[in-house]
Amino acid sequence: MEAYEVDQAVIAMKQMTFKTKYQRSRDHMSIISDTLENYVMSEEVLQSVTQRLLKEMRKGLSKSTHSDAKVKMFPSFVKSIPDGKEDGLYLALDLGGTNFRVLLVKLQPGKKPVIESQIYKMSNEIMTGPGEELFDHIASCMAEFLERLELKDQVLPVGFTFSFPCRQDGLDKATLMAWTKGFSAPGVEGEEIVGLLRDAVHRRGDLNVSIVAVVNDTVGTLMSCAYDVSDCAVGLIVGTGCNCCYMEKLKNVELVPGTDGDMCVNMEWGAFGDDGVLDDIRTDVDLQVDSNSPNSGRQLYEKLISGMYMGEIVRRIIVQLAEAGVLFNGQVSEALRTPGNFDTAFVSQIEAYAPNGLNHLQSILHRLDVGAMHSDCEIVQLVCRVVSTRAAFLCASGIAAIARKTKDNYPDKDNLEITVGVDGSVYKKHPTFSKNIAEKVAQLNAGMGVRVKFALSHDGSGKGAALIAAVARNDS
Ligand code: GLC
Repeated sequence: MEAYEVDQAVIAMKQMTFKTKYQRSRDHMSIISDTLENYVMSEEVLQSVTQRLLKEMRKGLSKSTHSDAKVKMFPSFVKSIPDGKEDGLYLALDLGGTNFRVLLVKLQPGKKPVIESQIYKMSNEIMTGPGEELFDHIASCMAEFLERLELKDQVLPVGFTFSFPCRQDGLDKATLMAWTKGFSAPGVEGEEIVGLLRDAVHRRGDLNVSIVAVVNDTVGTLMSCAYDVSDCAVGLIVGTGCNCCYMEKLKNVELVPGTDGDMCVNMEWGAFGDDGVLDDIRTDVDLQVDSNSPNSGRQLYEKLISGMYMGEIVRRIIVQLAEAGVLFNGQVSEALRTPGNFDTAFVSQIEAYAPNGLNHLQSILHRLDVGAMHSDCEIVQLVCRVVSTRAAFLCASGIAAIARKTKDNYPDKDNLEITVGVDGSVYKKHPTFSKNIAEKVAQLNAGMGVRVKFALSHDGSGKGAALIAAVARNDS
């Protein structure tokens, strides 16, 4: 037996300072390092991912290559950021995960928006059952909310945040390309979703709403952040899913006529890699996670980063290590063996406890019927750290690409500064994710004349959707 430090054994772990106090045999250490080094993204790989994404972005924007592009770069028809003069009462709907929210947003120039909201759980039956029932459910939540606030008789403009990949043909026209994030309701893919919602509203016959805008959550996030920070040019979500939008020169958005001004582009970058361009960095576990997902072969970049998959990646690595005999004395409980049983929230908690909270960590593992020694806990912490660091770094490569693309639009500005507005549970709750992204973007773009700052965006899906509805109303 020989004492071995994990940071030496695993990759000479450039980004990591983790040291274990416990002794492990050289054999065990080399199994751990052989497994984990596949998740370590070198500067060279990350730079190459940035270059690959830049290429995909151009392919998605250009009319001649758009149909073959995996990163779709959908125009959002949002052309300007809010100017603070937006006014009035709006309804915002937010569908994008297991919670559906209805919000009433009061905008007043010079004052903070006032928001009243209600969360409605989306059951699995509704997420995967007939599309018509999904939209009937949305309409009935809206009716219940408006009734409670005694607003059912007032005509309200609605901003609908629908956080799935949609081709937009106007601010209130969006066709769902494919479900993501565990939704699979039949009869919606290929359909125009504002029409589906209007139909559901008409079926009820008791609602006085006018749906004026349909918005991706990234776009809402950008708008909501831009309301507070004027140089906000990018909206990023790292939650259940992962996606980004940014302000592009309209002349580069070839799917939309016009050459003057800007347009916000919903990148749908989750699909980056769906044509195989990221295959060299995907591990055996990534392949398993993908093939066990409801949308196998799709959203491959998202599956390396977002909260829907992070815990599952960690779980599978832990099972591999246990089966190889280096964790939990070789024992794998049924609970640990069950897909989906390792919440991404655990990853955040486990890393937050490092390095002094091994007892807390033992209790988390205990919930999965795993009896872990302190030395096991340290390895589990390391697995979490490697997987979440990879996610943050890959996301940073994406942001670095957007910053470079934006810089190309402003060749005369020597030191361009842009702010990325961010939302999502992984970004907000994980102890080091935000720091890891910011540091890595700065490293990747060092000397390129563009500096990226990050700002938390508050309630993009509510405030942002209402702002877009307000701008739409003023424009019409
Ligand atoms: C998925 C969706 C995308 C959304 C993202 C974050 O990637 O396809 O539209 O923005 O999740 O919620």
